Amino acid sequence: MIKFTIITLFKEAVEPYLKSSMMEKAVQKGLAEFSFVNLRDFGLGPHKSVDDTPYGGGDGMVFRCEPVFAAVESIKAKDPDAKVILPTPVGEIWNQEMAREFTKNSHYIIICPHYEGYDERILQLVDYKVSLGKYVLTGGELPALIIVDSVVRLIPGVLGGETSAEIESFSEGDNLEYPQYTRPEDFRGMKVPEVLLSGNHGEIAKWREAHSKKVGTI
Ligand code: ADE
Repeated sequence: MIKFTIITLFKEAVEPYLKSSMMEKAVQKGLAEFSFVNLRDFGLGPHKSVDDTPYGGGDGMVFRCEPVFAAVESIKAKDPDAKVILPTPVGEIWNQEMAREFTKNSHYIIICPHYEGYDERILQLVDYKVSLGKYVLTGGELPALIIVDSVVRLIPGVLGGETSAEIESFSEGDNLEYPQYTRPEDFRGMKVPEVLLSGNHGEIAKWREAHSKKVGTI
């Protein structure tokens, strides 16, 4: 069982995805659990403020420390071993090896920043700074979903029909991808490679091996 607690101001942007398809199935099978903490609940003053203007000037608003620390501490009070992930364009670029590594821990807290950024002091709370790529998004919600999805699908039992051992034996985990086809055999003159129709499992495995590309190099 892997658990993700997502700290966000925009649960409505995140929850529908986690209630769909394989993520929902993982929850139903008892393999994953998702929960949300509304940063606003830890906001300051009558307006439950979570952000402020940056010292030194500049555009936009910055996440304040106090609400973020209070939100993380409220979760850690119940589970001190939970690891904290901060999606940020200046983090380590996410990849399949990291996703696999992350299946090893049981509880992650993901802080989703919004607005122009966050007070640098919140890094004190963070175990992993993760970037989804060399571009800037408006917030951490999409990165959070990508991190969760790419980790949860690796948990044995989440993807139907494949045991990890089976995958491991011929394609080094799922670090390799080969071209796939389904019916019809001939679509507008584009034909499925003959070998895949042959029923010869040895030849099919060889063909797939020869046509495999390492994830991330495509
Ligand atoms: N927040 C804004 N842009 C991001 C990115 N590229 N990766 C992770 N978090 C982000």
